[in-house]
Amino acid sequence: MSDVIEIHDVVKQRYGAIASGTAGSCCGGNNCGCDVQLYESALLEELPADVTSISLGCGDPVTIAGLHAGETVLDLGSGGGIDCFLAARQVGENGYVIGVDMTPAMLDKANTNKLKMGVQNVEFRRGQIEALPVQDNTIDVVMSNCVINLSPYKQSVFSEAYRVLKVGGRIVVSDIVTEGDFSAELQADTAKWAECVTGAIDVEAYTGFMRQAGFSNIQVVDKSSAEGIVELKAGMPRVYSARITAEKV
Ligand SMILES: C[S@@+](CC[C@H](N)C(=O)[O-])C[C@H]1O[C@@H](n2cnc3c(N)ncnc32)[C@H](O)[C@@H]1O
Repeated sequence: MSDVIEIHDVVKQRYGAIASGTAGSCCGGNNCGCDVQLYESALLEELPADVTSISLGCGDPVTIAGLHAGETVLDLGSGGGIDCFLAARQVGENGYVIGVDMTPAMLDKANTNKLKMGVQNVEFRRGQIEALPVQDNTIDVVMSNCVINLSPYKQSVFSEAYRVLKVGGRIVVSDIVTEGDFSAELQADTAKWAECVTGAIDVEAYTGFMRQAGFSNIQVVDKSSAEGIVELKAGMPRVYSARITAEKV
């Protein structure tokens, strides 16, 4: 448990520093996907620079979520809120988006962005994705972008996602995964872990946690090298940015 607490603290410190502008982001550029465009340009039009400049994901889960007007969406590790604001547009005024994040400075940033944008159907809640501050069976779509790899307790994250989803609901994640495992030495590198690298696990283990949580129809929709998204080094397993979907049936 002390490892868990230590990793949460390191992760919180890192993303707190990024949110308050005292640190660069995941691989040292402007966002996690420094050399890679994560979203179609058209999707980002109408979003203010304050939002797009704190995009720390590794892909675009929103586009493949197939959101419908009126749906309730939960974003795990919402950061500065980019995916929440994109989802809010798609679910419309009868829909609702909740972002959960454990880093106070990141929540401040997201709430400042929300106020500036005058968005009404988004709420940011402080909490851990391993113990979500969300009621059972209330969410249509759980999404997450480059966050679950940071959790030392991935099984709890998927069990919590399953708990809060309605029957018929779906989960759509963009995340860093591997083929093979990081050495114990690399896993113990908490700085690299907080940069969305060494906390990532083999894609089979990842989807295994989803299955164990109760999810069905688990699909790796796409998977491409994470080069340019996170900083990779020799001696690492193959590291990917993947989009994975599943359902609670
Ligand atoms: C790499 S950033 C991604 C932010 C956002 N999803 C995006 O695409 O811009 C990771 C975010 O997840 C949050 N986070 C990491 N681990 C968390 C946990 N266990 N519980 C809640 N939030 C967490 C961090 O505070 C940070 O804001």
